[in-house]
Amino acid sequence: MLKQLKQKAIAEIKQAGDLNSLEKVFRQYLGRKGELTQVLRSLKDLSAKERATQGKLANQIKKEIENILEQKKYKIRDTKYELPKEWLDVTAPGVPMPQGHLHPITLVQRQVEEIFQSMGFTVANGPEVETDYYNFDALNVPKNHPARDLWDTFWLKDLDLLLRTHTSPVQARYMEKNNPPLRIIVPGRCYRHEATDASHDVIFHQVEGLMVGSDVSAANFKGVIEEFFKQFYHTDVKIRLRPSYFPFVEPGFEVDVKRKGKNWLEIMGAGMVHPNVFKTVGYKANNYQGFAFGIGLDRLAMIKYQIDDIRLLFTNDLRLLKQF
Ligand code: PHE
Repeated sequence: MLKQLKQKAIAEIKQAGDLNSLEKVFRQYLGRKGELTQVLRSLKDLSAKERATQGKLANQIKKEIENILEQKKYKIRDTKYELPKEWLDVTAPGVPMPQGHLHPITLVQRQVEEIFQSMGFTVANGPEVETDYYNFDALNVPKNHPARDLWDTFWLKDLDLLLRTHTSPVQARYMEKNNPPLRIIVPGRCYRHEATDASHDVIFHQVEGLMVGSDVSAANFKGVIEEFFKQFYHTDVKIRLRPSYFPFVEPGFEVDVKRKGKNWLEIMGAGMVHPNVFKTVGYKANNYQGFAFGIGLDRLAMIKYQIDDIRLLFTNDLRLLKQF
């Protein structure tokens, strides 16, 4: 009779599909009024001998049922928390995040910085909102001088400030604080109040260069610039200097570059630093000489990446930007 009870209990445990029905089975056999509990209670009415054998068997069965119940409980719990198969495939390749791109101007600027740094130049900076003193006066362009018309300037209303028209003011700012020998480049944004077309925008970028020492010559300039373009284009180049005018240099030149099989390209203004500029920043007259140049960074980028309209560089059109 006890063995039948056990079989029945085990069969019911097997059938129980969830914790609730399992709990019912427990109460059915081991609860306060459970079938097995009642058997155990009635043991006291038996003879001592019977009590011993029946008692032993009943307790053994109780333990067995408890064990099976426990195991089934874990099994139900495990299946309950088991993750659905399709929830996560850890071997699936990830979805690539869309990547940002460096702007062509940034790419070219970094390359230019690297090349000049390899030649001992330091990267310096200056403000884009400038005083007219640094943008003009300190560069040998006095107030009311017609040479100011060389640069169409954005003036800040009612203030003595302007958006710098070139990176040259940083020449004066740097020399005021540093003595020769010095070698710097100054990459940065410039602004001109001009009509825009494919090669002119109101915003553009220059890299100013300045090298000053006791005997820095125009030949040094040619050497440095030739080396720069060699490294920039990864090929031999020819350099041509044409006389030009900038108030802060004397003599001044326009610099053209030619790669094999290509046309001459006008790429920068340059010259030997004017003695008046040295005087203004407080250098002793005749002690120093040096060269300065201003490369159009946008021009370099346009040539390098074959972009035919400068305005494309500032419209933030993703179709262009994503190509870099
Ligand atoms: N600052 C000049 C310009 O923007 C370029 C230049 C720089 C010329 C340095 C000579 C020396 O037009």
